[in-house]
Amino acid sequence: MATRSAKRVLDAAVEAARWAPSVHNTQPWMFSVAEDEISLRADTDRKLRVGDASGRELLISCGAALFTLRTVMRCEGFEPIVRILPDPDRPSLLATLRPGADIQADELTVALGGEIERRRTHRAGFADVPVPDELIERLVRAASSEGAHLTPVRSADAVDVIAALTRAAQGVQAQDRRFSLEVIRWARPPGSNRKDGVPAEGYPRQAPRTEPHFAQRDYAWRHDWGSQADQRGSVATGVVAVLTTPGDSRQEWIDAGQALQHVLLHASAYGVSAAFHTQVLEMEPLREFLRREVCSGEYPQMIMRLGVTFDDKTSVRRPLSEVLE
Ligand SMILES: Cc1cc2nc3c(=O)[nH]c(=O)nc-3n(C[C@H](O)[C@H](O)[C@H](O)COP(=O)(O)O)c2cc1C
Repeated sequence: MATRSAKRVLDAAVEAARWAPSVHNTQPWMFSVAEDEISLRADTDRKLRVGDASGRELLISCGAALFTLRTVMRCEGFEPIVRILPDPDRPSLLATLRPGADIQADELTVALGGEIERRRTHRAGFADVPVPDELIERLVRAASSEGAHLTPVRSADAVDVIAALTRAAQGVQAQDRRFSLEVIRWARPPGSNRKDGVPAEGYPRQAPRTEPHFAQRDYAWRHDWGSQADQRGSVATGVVAVLTTPGDSRQEWIDAGQALQHVLLHASAYGVSAAFHTQVLEMEPLREFLRREVCSGEYPQMIMRLGVTFDDKTSVRRPLSEVLE
């Protein structure tokens, strides 16, 4: 591959990877480009010390960035050669990628690439529009292709259990000063020009409750923050789904992140958004309960609701100069 075109492909991939989802929009990644290789590193200064002491959510976030890099490389006409956790002596080096054989990206890959910047996290109920079963089946296959399992929760009783766990976890975290301070640290007031964290324009000021109610994170924390978007018609829970992995290793957290972004981009290409409720997974006893009782012993990595929404949401990202070494 000619040097000039290698540089263009690698730059385009890193530029796009900034738009991956990350817990509290911490963007816990650093990229470097040397010759024809991209290195993806964890930025552990951005780890949530309270909610994510093990770094699980950090690695899921970086895994989502890795899937984004792979997708852009494919869209640019190269099969990526990826090494995950290539050097045990450098645990922060999560992956390296190089453009391999020439390929012609298929229609679906091009569609995924088109969703990278458009996809947004939703934080309310969904419109009363069903998500086709066939799409859910495709999302399940997308997760499997990355080594994770997406399980739509079809039983109303199991959905109730997950909703109740979400409320319990949110209730406990709201009472815990350490958790609250961490969320406040990453919440941004209206009009903030910070390029990380969750902006006040990223969630509604008031959202009617879904039935059963899935507790949202309290990014507004005692403030009258949030967008004024009219949410009256948005009360559907959507399809509740849990993303799991067979084990709980660092490699599997990265796999879960790649699966997450594969699922989200595919869903977005069909007009479906996701809302997340991952408080439960930050509290080991509750996560363990969910693992045994709802996830057939697999390790839950993400809890989401999938549905259709018509409102526009905002998010922000740091400029390339801050994430490229
Ligand atoms: C591991 C992980 C956990 C997350 N947990 C939540 C959550 O509990 N509640 C929520 O509203 N968003 C959650 N998110 C979504 C992030 O807040 C979101 O990706 C980030 O703010 C960037 O916004 P965007 O996805 O709209 O681009 C999570 C994302 C990741 C990767």
